[in-house]
Amino acid sequence: MVRATTLFAATAALALNAHAESMYSKKSDVVQITGMDYDRVIAKSNYTSIVEFYAPWCGHCKNLKPAYETAAKSLAGIAKVAAVNCDEEMNKPFCGQMGVQGFPTLKIVRPGKKPGKPMVEDYQGPRTAKGIVDAVKDKVPNTVKRVSDKNLDDWLEENKDTAKAILFSEKGIVSATLRALAIDFAGLVSVAQVKKSEKTAVEKYGITAFPSLILIPAGSDTPVKHEGKVDKAAMVQFLSQVAPPNPDCPPPKEKKPKAKKDAKKESKSSSKFSKASASHKSADSSSAAASATDETVEEPVVPTESPDPNIKDEDTPEPVVISAEERKPTIPTITESAELQSMCLNEQSKTCILALLPKDESSDAAKTAAASLASIHRKYDVSGSHLFPFIGVSASNPVAASLLAELNLGSAEQVHLVATNGKRAWYKKYSGSAFGAEEVEQWVDAIRMGEGKKEKLPDSLLVVGEKAEVKEEKVAEQEPVKIEVEEMAEDATQDAEAPGHNEL
Ligand SMILES: *[C@@H]1O[C@H](CO)[C@@H](O)[C@H](O)[C@H]1NC(C)=O
Repeated sequence: MVRATTLFAATAALALNAHAESMYSKKSDVVQITGMDYDRVIAKSNYTSIVEFYAPWCGHCKNLKPAYETAAKSLAGIAKVAAVNCDEEMNKPFCGQMGVQGFPTLKIVRPGKKPGKPMVEDYQGPRTAKGIVDAVKDKVPNTVKRVSDKNLDDWLEENKDTAKAILFSEKGIVSATLRALAIDFAGLVSVAQVKKSEKTAVEKYGITAFPSLILIPAGSDTPVKHEGKVDKAAMVQFLSQVAPPNPDCPPPKEKKPKAKKDAKKESKSSSKFSKASASHKSADSSSAAASATDETVEEPVVPTESPDPNIKDEDTPEPVVISAEERKPTIPTITESAELQSMCLNEQSKTCILALLPKDESSDAAKTAAASLASIHRKYDVSGSHLFPFIGVSASNPVAASLLAELNLGSAEQVHLVATNGKRAWYKKYSGSAFGAEEVEQWVDAIRMGEGKKEKLPDSLLVVGEKAEVKEEKVAEQEPVKIEVEEMAEDATQDAEAPGHNEL
């Protein structure tokens, strides 16, 4: 989880500012998220999401807004539609890490095989409500079993100890709505779909109208028939007699995690570490060591709008004037090892500047270092140029201890600044003892220019790149995806004829 370290500002003041320039109102069906809640609300959700990365001044973003809001309405109860304001100071490192280079950028995020490890892909389709809705529906995972006369008894037997729901439909394809219903009740109700042409099953339950939903309680043969409208909300309510549906994401964490929880995390992350280092090939590390010397300047990347501008010059952004009051210096602080690994410590990651914070994050040195980093980053942000992310690593992050030990940084009671580059496997320490903006900026400049002594980043600190993992999973999933695409094409056509609840 990423959380902002508030140095001078009261959290409440920051929260007020956080949505000051949001493009979407609170009433909008589009959910405003920040880099802080992405992990919990999107990455750890069982639902598929689409996330728009935008800047409020961007003309294409304004043009997209009505279609995006319509899409959000159509996808209600099926998938999450979210937006991140990348102009917001606290979201900038996150937007950078998500590879956002132009506005708007749309990414579809869907649950992966491993919980919390979603598959993320850019949405490149038409920027219309229909284009977005179809693409997102297509990515909603399917756990609904299609049951026929032949395998009905087997399915009933397999699921005899759980509650079961069967949707009888004229259609063979499983709609996104029913797939979403199965996600709502994952682990609570097994969901199947039976086509009208399966005569034996239809007769067995006395079904005469389509679509019809029935519920068979655990350990029972007696179905309960759903009466009334067969839409998402009604179906959720009907199945809720078994148990309330799953929440759409894990609840927010308490500020202070319990000691027990921490220990669990620690052992998890250390096994990950050893697995990662075991999979490293020696050839990799020698080439990484060789390339660790040839880095030059990091090219500043200025986020641009995507092409095809439909807007006139007067719409082009004016430089945003930010009052000192609005720009309280903050850097994001990461408390979880997986988050830090996926941002900065994998084989794909580019340069990051990490501030390892002592337990007492409000100590003078910690405050000064974080404020210096924040003010340096802000300089770049204001000028619109890209600078590698500055990340606070909280002392409770299990990776902090590994970094301290592996890089011989010294005492955990002190602040340590270190630049890392996972791809090229190097790191650079900040050797000064003062953390004023001037001293720290000199060091940051040297890193930008590729100057200064680089040391070899130990393999044990790097996990295998997320991107590689995503690719593998995609390949493995190719077959079922193919089948779904075919079905969905049919689904989409039917949607166009009869939108809304008729898709069942
Ligand atoms: C996700 O689904 C699993 C069952 O597959 C369920 O146990 C879990 O509670 C769901 N997660 C959330 C956040 O609801």
